[in-house]
Amino acid sequence: MTETTFTPRVFSGIQPSGNLHLGNYLGALKRFAAAQNEGIESIYCMVDLHAITVWQDPADLRRATRELCAGFIASGLDPEKSILINQSQVPEHAQLAWIFNCVARMGWMQRMTQWKDKAGKNAQNASLGLFAYPSLMAADILIYHATHVPVGEDQKQHLELTRDIAAKFNHDYGVDFFPLTEPVIEGAATRVMSLRDGSKKMSKSDPSDASRINMTDDADTIAKKIRKAKTDPEPLPDNTDELDERPEARNLVNIYAALADMPVEQVIADHAGQNFATFKPSLADLAVAKLAPIAEEMSRLMGEQDEIDRILTRGAERARAITAPILRQTYDIVGLVPPVEL
Ligand code: AMP
Ligand code: TRP
Repeated sequence: MTETTFTPRVFSGIQPSGNLHLGNYLGALKRFAAAQNEGIESIYCMVDLHAITVWQDPADLRRATRELCAGFIASGLDPEKSILINQSQVPEHAQLAWIFNCVARMGWMQRMTQWKDKAGKNAQNASLGLFAYPSLMAADILIYHATHVPVGEDQKQHLELTRDIAAKFNHDYGVDFFPLTEPVIEGAATRVMSLRDGSKKMSKSDPSDASRINMTDDADTIAKKIRKAKTDPEPLPDNTDELDERPEARNLVNIYAALADMPVEQVIADHAGQNFATFKPSLADLAVAKLAPIAEEMSRLMGEQDEIDRILTRGAERARAITAPILRQTYDIVGLVPPVEL
């Protein structure tokens, strides 16, 4: 079998549940705009079908989906250059997910740490959708034959599973149809940690709002959360090795580096010997300078809901020009009899 070369194509998704936070921005959104500007065809998705694997209030889900779209655009995505979609508006995602449910094995899903974390001790009561979540994620990516997926560190295992599904499909059917997608986990902030606990990732599900900086927080709130962030009493060291034992200090330095587009080494060189009483206000100023214009643009766009809905409708139309033929070919490979013209 000859190796097929696939045209580079980027895909990524974010769940419209809860607030967008600094982890989403630095781990994902900020880097999406970078990929777009390199001129690679890119599709960015609000994964509403993933969101409902746990309970979502319908009105909140609608609002969060539109707000996420506003967040994508405010972070620099141009809906003309990139394709912005809402997952449920492109039915081929869910259709391919069913095929993948028949390719993936129960044991693969059981090993997913996100499943274990989210289902917890109450797995018997979790939704079947939550268990199958990674299969739908593989379909999101592979329905575009996407080759590169920019995400935060927490999604690495799901992307390995996506490769396993593609490889098993190709092997079982004796084809070279789905690409083995590359995760793109880069930058100083692939895992932004909670501001209250340096051992936990910053997350929208953390009950403490002080643990995260939301994209819609105002300048005062951002400054206050950074001032109150947990740290240790030592000043900043003059080399990065010494940060290894200091997770909270490392987190603030990483956030600074990612926001300033600077190597971590440079941040350390510039701030070595400073106490947090000095470093935190600099970080707060930087965070406000970078995030406030995004929050402002998001709130402006939220006032133009019809425009957002039009962008998503147009995105879905462009997306389906890619997904419909790939689904048709998949069905053909699997042996599903297609409809004929009557
Ligand atoms: P989610 O909000 O779980 O849908 O995640 C959307 C994107 O943000 C994914 O690419 C995640 O990997 C990324 N992400 C979420 N939380 C963090 C975090 N604390 N640090 C870095 N990236 C994150
Ligand atoms: N599982 C991802 C998250 O929670 C969201 C997601 C769904 C995704 N489908 C995707 C990310 C496809 C990248 C590619 O963060």
